Amino acid sequence: MTQHLTVVDHPLVQHKLTIMRKKEVSTAGFRRLLREISLLLAYEVTRELELTSTRIETPLCEMDAPTLEGKKLALISILRAGNGLLDGILEMIPSARVGFVGMYRDPETLMPVEYYCKVPKELDARLTIVVDPMLATGNSSVAAIDMLKARGATNLRFLCLLAAPEGVERMRQAHPDVPIYTASLDERLDEHGYIVPGLGDAGDRMFGTK
Ligand code: URA
Repeated sequence: MTQHLTVVDHPLVQHKLTIMRKKEVSTAGFRRLLREISLLLAYEVTRELELTSTRIETPLCEMDAPTLEGKKLALISILRAGNGLLDGILEMIPSARVGFVGMYRDPETLMPVEYYCKVPKELDARLTIVVDPMLATGNSSVAAIDMLKARGATNLRFLCLLAAPEGVERMRQAHPDVPIYTASLDERLDEHGYIVPGLGDAGDRMFGTK
């Protein structure tokens, strides 16, 4: 049985995350680290993918060799910060289907407002991995997963870089069937909905905006 929250404590992930948190890290450095870390997170989130076997011929003999079972998986990026995680994961799983959910956080209410949704067909037959670097209040993640379930997704995972306890709890209540993978469970949210100690605004840091 998959746990609801998995903190990926691999030393390389933890080391890279520490560098990313530093406020003096450049946009280019932040982006490079995010790409590197997303490869490692992709490895962990796909650890339990089902395998089947296929008959192949090596230069020496025939054999039954393992191969991934089922339809290509779906990666869903919550715009815009999700794209930073998506790029690295796609390097690891180049044949994945990709969807985008556009949501921004209303700064007053902290509630998600949807402005875009384009996702692959047949979500009911795919492992669907939702990516967003920061699981803060959990409001946009819950809303995105509501939307994906309404479009047929049943086998979902949520992948983030940092999670706040408040967001994990909100997800656990709304979507207990969706396991969360993160590099760190941080302490708390501040009054503006930022993760503390966190790393600031992930979108601004990866795209160099402010
Ligand atoms: N989104 C971010 O980019 N950073 C936070 O700390 C919380 C939400």
